[in-house]
Amino acid sequence: MKSNKTHQLKVEDLKILDFEKLCVPEIIFPDAELLESFNQGVIILENHQVSKNLLNQAYQDSFNFFHLDSDIKMKYAYQNTKQGAYGNTGYFPFGSEKAISVDVNDEKEFFHVARNFFPSSYSEFYSKNYWPEEIDSFKDTFSNLFNQLEFIGSVLCQNILRILGYEKSYISEILVAGNSILRSIKYPVTREDGICAAPHTGIQLIGIQPPATSKGLEINLNGKWYQPTGDEWNDKLIINIGEMLGHLSENKFKPTLHRVAKTQIERHAIVFFYHPNHLTKIKYKNNTIMAGELIKNRLSELGL
Ligand SMILES: [Fe+2]
Repeated sequence: MKSNKTHQLKVEDLKILDFEKLCVPEIIFPDAELLESFNQGVIILENHQVSKNLLNQAYQDSFNFFHLDSDIKMKYAYQNTKQGAYGNTGYFPFGSEKAISVDVNDEKEFFHVARNFFPSSYSEFYSKNYWPEEIDSFKDTFSNLFNQLEFIGSVLCQNILRILGYEKSYISEILVAGNSILRSIKYPVTREDGICAAPHTGIQLIGIQPPATSKGLEINLNGKWYQPTGDEWNDKLIINIGEMLGHLSENKFKPTLHRVAKTQIERHAIVFFYHPNHLTKIKYKNNTIMAGELIKNRLSELGL
């Protein structure tokens, strides 16, 4: 990070990837195009098929949940519910999480949704979902959104891992029943300038971010901070590279450093952390470690 000044980032400044082309087997997708996207440090996806109505419903349900009384929300809090060793679900009250780079906690509250179905042998490791019974449409909306974003993560990772030289059978093995997390976040109204989520990279393979309710996300590219600006972002997904993809690519791809700036209006965001199966073996600092253990270590570093 060389400067704290934030620059505007227009959609046309970056290469945009057409998701439809990745999904149609008859089209031979040029590997160079996909590599170029991953090499630019952040991937912008168009034609992703996640409907605006579904996203709007998810934001509405999130808004309704976060505006419930605190004692109702605490019924679903991770401290008050049974959690898995390699992933946690439910409600995380304001100030639960702290980025590794700083001593202050992020100014946000959030809710985690995980996969609804997984083998019974995973039940010690994966966390079941805790659905807010006060919001009728929450379960259907977020289950649907989870499935759609997981599909996108799976297609992107299958292709990039294939290009990196991994065998088809290995790719299937590591991407099946991953312990991915769909996170919905509320950032508070503030009067001052500054940062409400400190600079960080994620542990996941990739992070998938639909448009938030207002600007605030800032991405570090080549040492400079950029804020996506302009209406053209509204129908795109922003995909960040996570640390586990950095490890699997032997550092060919660098995890995307990002942060969230304070805003003067209440801001809601949704992000999908696409994780591999917890049994995936990852080379890390000259050792081999299970993906589940890497995630567990990171949750502990974040204070979760
Ligand atoms: Fe993040």
